[in-house]
Amino acid sequence: MILTKFQKLIGTKYPIIQAGMGPYSTTDLCIAVAKEGGLGLISTIGMGAGLSPATPEAAERVFGKGRPQDILKRTIQYVFDNLKDYPDAKFGVNIPVATDFSYVAKRLVKGTLEILKEKPEIHDKFAVIVTSAGDPLPWSIDAVSKGAKKAKIPIKEELPKIVWCHVCPNVRAAKRCEKAGVDIVIASGREGGAHCAWRDVSSMVLLPEVVNNVNIPVVGAGGFSDGASLAAALALGAIGIQMGTRFIATKEADFQQMWKEAIVKRAETDTLVARGLFGPMRFLRNTMSMKVVDATIDGASNLYRGIPCPSNQTIMDIEMEGLRKLYNESEEESIILGGVVTGRIHSIPTVKELLESIIAEAEEIISKLPSYIRKEKLIEI
Ligand SMILES: Cc1cc2nc3c(=O)[nH]c(=O)nc-3n(C[C@H](O)[C@H](O)[C@H](O)COP(=O)(O)O)c2cc1C
Repeated sequence: MILTKFQKLIGTKYPIIQAGMGPYSTTDLCIAVAKEGGLGLISTIGMGAGLSPATPEAAERVFGKGRPQDILKRTIQYVFDNLKDYPDAKFGVNIPVATDFSYVAKRLVKGTLEILKEKPEIHDKFAVIVTSAGDPLPWSIDAVSKGAKKAKIPIKEELPKIVWCHVCPNVRAAKRCEKAGVDIVIASGREGGAHCAWRDVSSMVLLPEVVNNVNIPVVGAGGFSDGASLAAALALGAIGIQMGTRFIATKEADFQQMWKEAIVKRAETDTLVARGLFGPMRFLRNTMSMKVVDATIDGASNLYRGIPCPSNQTIMDIEMEGLRKLYNESEEESIILGGVVTGRIHSIPTVKELLESIIAEAEEIISKLPSYIRKEKLIEI
């Protein structure tokens, strides 16, 4: 059994996080992952951006209408109710805290605090808040004295029992997490699906460098999909992995069947990065994402100088149209988000099959490694 500090901190069976993934709320996926021993996350971007869930049934059942904090509270309650027969199940919520989204983020964090205070029993299973896509410092205790311009909500002061994770794309941001009092840094390499950074640092470089530069535990994200990549993350110093794209292609994932099959079909060369909602995003390559690339190119040199591209209306219009086309299951005309790891995904298993195969494969690789790298073997080659 692979046992790291991850399980000690969060209480799951496996050191694996199902990533937050908009535009849908990933409610069914979160429940399935939590039941089977991983950490399931509810995704919230859609709740704030007025995007619909994957199916009308899901909209009816969970989302409903109203303020983002009320939608989130209902969703947390729904996931908790579905996990009542699973005493060890753990879940949490992903809240992007990008500047463009911070008005909604504040309401989403508030909603989370409210439901955990109103119904403390939910805290038994609700273990984690994963913030992402922005600066963690305003959400820390004593934010302003630590250097934040403005304090938001001090997450750890309000919820001392919560494990606070923050996703970051470089070492500087990881150090800021440490300063903010984040419990776990999720180091997300440029190969990851959807939100990423313009400055491309891949997981192979980012993960060990973050591990060497902070004194808090690190989880690897971006490019992970199987036992081999879990074993690699552990070798690079991580306590676990977060997977997005791999989890989309599972039976329970609340994404369209077309999206799942598109991930299975694509090779590792079939993604691209362009300007998206709240900054750069990685898309599967198709007619629609090429349109986003065309619309991004004007400001490209500025982007690589670190100057953010203004949220260009043409890009927003293309993306909203592409998200609507998902409902027609149109593979060329939809906006389909996914990581480079799409090239390593060849099946649509159940979440249980996926998690068990990852752990079994990682254990086998780790146990065979000493004999595999013995000198005599190398001479044989
Ligand atoms: C469809 C999709 C939507 C995503 N949406 C979000 C999001 O709402 N918030 C966030 O923090 N990250 C988001 N991400 C990034 C994931 O949380 C995760 O870090 C990333 O998928 C990891 O890389 P991988 O796709 O190679 O596994 C998204 C990723 C995908 C594929």
